Amino acid sequence: MSLFRKKPLSGAIAPEGEIHGGDALGRHLTVRDLTFFGIAAIIGAGSFSSMGEACFKGGPGVVLLFVMCGIACGFTAMCYAEFAARVPASGSAYTYAYVTFGELFAWVIGWALLMEYSIGNIYVAFSWSGYFTNLLEGLGLHLPEWLTINYKAAHVASQHTLATIFSANAPNATPEARLALETAVSSEGNLAWTTAPRIGPLRIIFDLPAVAINVLITWLVYVGVKESRNVSNAMVILKLAIIVLVVLVGAAYVDIDNWTPFLPNGFGGVMAGVSAVFFAYIGFDAVSTLAEESKDPQRDLPRGMIRSLIICTVVYVLLALVLTGMVSWSQLDVSDPLAEVFQLRGVKWMLYIVSIAAVVAMTSVLLVFQLGQPRIWMSMSRDGLLPKKFASIHPKHRTPGFSTIVTGLVVGLPIFFTDESFILDFTSIGTLFAFVLVCGGVLLLPQRPKVKGRFHLPYFNSRWTAPLLMLAVVALLVVSLPDYFPGLLEIEGHAAQNIPQLIFWPLTLLLVIMAHVKQWSLIPLLGLLSCSYLLTGMEVSNWSWFSVWLVIGLICYFAYGYRHSKLAPQRT
Ligand code: ALA
Repeated sequence: MSLFRKKPLSGAIAPEGEIHGGDALGRHLTVRDLTFFGIAAIIGAGSFSSMGEACFKGGPGVVLLFVMCGIACGFTAMCYAEFAARVPASGSAYTYAYVTFGELFAWVIGWALLMEYSIGNIYVAFSWSGYFTNLLEGLGLHLPEWLTINYKAAHVASQHTLATIFSANAPNATPEARLALETAVSSEGNLAWTTAPRIGPLRIIFDLPAVAINVLITWLVYVGVKESRNVSNAMVILKLAIIVLVVLVGAAYVDIDNWTPFLPNGFGGVMAGVSAVFFAYIGFDAVSTLAEESKDPQRDLPRGMIRSLIICTVVYVLLALVLTGMVSWSQLDVSDPLAEVFQLRGVKWMLYIVSIAAVVAMTSVLLVFQLGQPRIWMSMSRDGLLPKKFASIHPKHRTPGFSTIVTGLVVGLPIFFTDESFILDFTSIGTLFAFVLVCGGVLLLPQRPKVKGRFHLPYFNSRWTAPLLMLAVVALLVVSLPDYFPGLLEIEGHAAQNIPQLIFWPLTLLLVIMAHVKQWSLIPLLGLLSCSYLLTGMEVSNWSWFSVWLVIGLICYFAYGYRHSKLAPQRT
C-alpha cells in the first residue's frame, strides 16, 4: 500500500519561520487580505477575453452557465474550506490529499494543479497582450503584427487565407467570398505571416508583450512576497472599481430585445462555452496556498475563499447580462468582448478605461498564480517528491527562487509555440479534474466534532435528498429538453462527443445509490457531481491530451517521487 502512504498532519505544518517567504511575510494576512487575494486570482482573462466566446456559443443563456459554474465552484470551495480547516498548511489541495488520502492521490492533484496555475497563466498572458497592444495603439504606438501574435495562430491564419484565395478566385465566386478574402488577407495573423523576418525557412513570429509580462511577473515574485501582496491589493481595488463602472454604464445601453432568443443554439450551445466560463472562476482555491501566512487559517481561509467566490459570481452574472444585452450575442465572437460592446455602441471613452482595467486585472491573476505554483512545488519538494532544489530559498529575497524561475520558464516557453484555445481547454479540464478529486476526497473524510471559530462543513444527509434531486433533474430535462436523452444515444455524427455524457449519467446513478447506502454528506456529493457534469462539456480531443498529460505525470512520479519520497521505506 506504499502508493497510499500518508503524511502525518504534524509534518504538514511547518514551524513558524521555516517556510518559504515566511520570514519575509509572517502571519499577517487577515480575512480581508485573503478575500482580496481570491478576487485578484479570479477576475481576469475569463471576464475580459474568454467570456466573448462563451456568449457567442451560448447566446444570452450563457448566464445559466455562469450560475452553474458558480454553484459547482461554491460546493468545491466549501470542500476546500473543510480541508483548510483540518490541515492549515500551504501546498493547497496537494497537501490536503497527502495528509488524508496518501501519496499517489496527492501527486495526481499536484500534477493537475500545475495545469491550473502555470498552464492557465499562458492563456492569461496571451489575453493580457491583446489588451496591452490595444492600449499602445491608443497611444499611437504600433507593434508589428509578427510581434503580437503566436506562431501557431499566424500559421493557421495564413492557411485560411490561402483557402479563401482559392474560393474567391473561382469563376463563380460570390461577393461574400471576395469579402472573406479581403478580411482574411488583412487579418493580424496573415499580416504577421507575410511580413515576418525570416532566418532561412523559419519565420520569426512571437507574442512579445506576453513574453515580456511573464518575465516582469517572474521577477516581481522572485524579489519578494510582501511587495507582490501590496501590488496585488492595489490592483484588485482598481479592477473592481472599473468593472462596477462597466456594469453601470453598460446597463444604460442594454436593449432587452437582445436577450431573445435566450438559447439561440440550444442548451448544447451553452455547454459548449464551459471551458471559457469555468476558466473565469479558476483562482478561488489559490487562497488556500496562503495558509502559512494567514493569521488564523482555520477560520479565515474558508471565509476568504467563499467571500471572493460570491463577489465574483455576482460580478460575472451582471457582466454576462450587460454584454448580451448591449449587442446581439452573434457579435461577441471576439477576444476583447468588453471593449467590443462599447465600440459597437459608440461609447468610445469607455474603450480606454476597459483596456486599462483588463491589463490591471490580468496582471493580478498572473501575479497570484505565479506566486502559488512555486509554493506547491516547494511543498512537494519538502516531501521528497521533487528534487531538493525546488524547496531552496533565495538567501536575500526569502522566496523560493529556483521554483519561481522554473515557473517562469513553464509559462514562458510555451508562449512561443502554442495558441490560446488549446491552453484554455487544457487548463479548464485539469482544474475541474482537481476539483472532482477534492470533492470526492471530502466525501470520504470521517466526520469531526465542531470546533468554535473554525469552519465546519455542514452535514446534510444525502440518503433521500440525493435520489430525489436526481429524479427532479431527470424529470426537468425530460420535460424541458425532450430530445436530450434520445440525442445521447444517436450514433450518427456526434457519437464521440456524447461519450463523456454517456459515462456521466451511469456514474451519477452509481454515486447516488452509494450516497443512499452510505448516507454521504450532500455538499461534497453535489460538488463532485456538478464538477463532473461540467467536465462532460469538454471536447473528446481534449480528454485525449489530458490523458497523455496524466500518464506523463505518473511516469515522473514512478521515476523520481516514489523512490525519493520522505515516506519511502529506505528514508524513514
Ligand atoms: N480566473 C482567472 C482568469 O479569468 C484564471 O483570468
